Amino acid sequence: MTGAGTFDGFVRQSLRAIEAELDRLLPPADAPPRQLNAAMRHSVLNGGKRLRALLVLAVVNAHGRDQPPLAHASAAALEMIHAGSLIHDDLPCFDNADLRRGKPSCHKAFGEATALLAGDALFVLPFEIMARVHAPAEERLHAMRILAEAAGPARGIFAGQALESEQAPLEDIHAAKTASLFRAAAELGALAAGGGDLDRWARWGDVLGHAFQLMDDVLDAESGSITLGKPSGQDERNQKPSGVRLWGLAETRRRAEGRLGQALDLIPSELDGAILRELALRCVRRSF
Ligand code: IPE
Ligand code: IPE
Ligand code: MG
Ligand code: MG
Repeated sequence: MTGAGTFDGFVRQSLRAIEAELDRLLPPADAPPRQLNAAMRHSVLNGGKRLRALLVLAVVNAHGRDQPPLAHASAAALEMIHAGSLIHDDLPCFDNADLRRGKPSCHKAFGEATALLAGDALFVLPFEIMARVHAPAEERLHAMRILAEAAGPARGIFAGQALESEQAPLEDIHAAKTASLFRAAAELGALAAGGGDLDRWARWGDVLGHAFQLMDDVLDAESGSITLGKPSGQDERNQKPSGVRLWGLAETRRRAEGRLGQALDLIPSELDGAILRELALRCVRRSF
């Protein structure tokens, strides 16, 4: 899809494509192992905002390109990894949260053992998907490396969750547990679009991811569970390191806006960046 016109049109069309791709790529609920498949579907096809997938498609769109199979596969892969990370994050050994996206969290609906497996499976299935996607082998390999780094133990989600329990500096925690997927989304979009400077896109995703997590910390302290679709006040209750606990609400908001400004400045001026700009703004200000 190129020149999708309005932002709303882009989002509508992209969400349709993303939801269809996720439904197609996940194992059917009536195939064995039924509990595991049902748990994966419960946690992926349950109304997330799909921001990471939208970012991939918006970066491609900004390059004026049609969405190639690699873009759709990358978008779906990121949403699966993200959903897997949320399953693990909600387990009693992490945040012990009963609610996710307005529904019972995976372990509440399926039990801890199945939830653990569903989370694991959602980290692995994307690599099978990327290995099979219709794209040159070099691009597939590059995409898989980007995904592996975003999930992995050096600077990805696993690192982030570990750093959180080690009371590491907040910036390092946020970079790994959240900004890693935003970085990957931007890089994967640029890769799929055949765009040039992947490092610049990685920086763009990184600052946007920081802004996003800072705002998540604000909303955790400020909003209600019904609005969020997940328990509010978790960070305080679990004594989790967060922007709000470190700096308070106003300063955390200010820092999120600062990062958002940096992200907007990093969008290359030669691209058609209107949709990407709007998406970045709404991502952080949560005006979806
Ligand atoms: C929640 O992310 C986890 C964080 C990194 C803060 P989202 O707010 O994007 O969650 P969904 O996908 O819309 O449920
Ligand atoms: C978790 O951050 C990010 C992940 C890697 C899952 P949070 O713990 O703040 O996410 P929420 O608030 O539960 O969505
Ligand atoms: Mg959590
Ligand atoms: Mg949170």
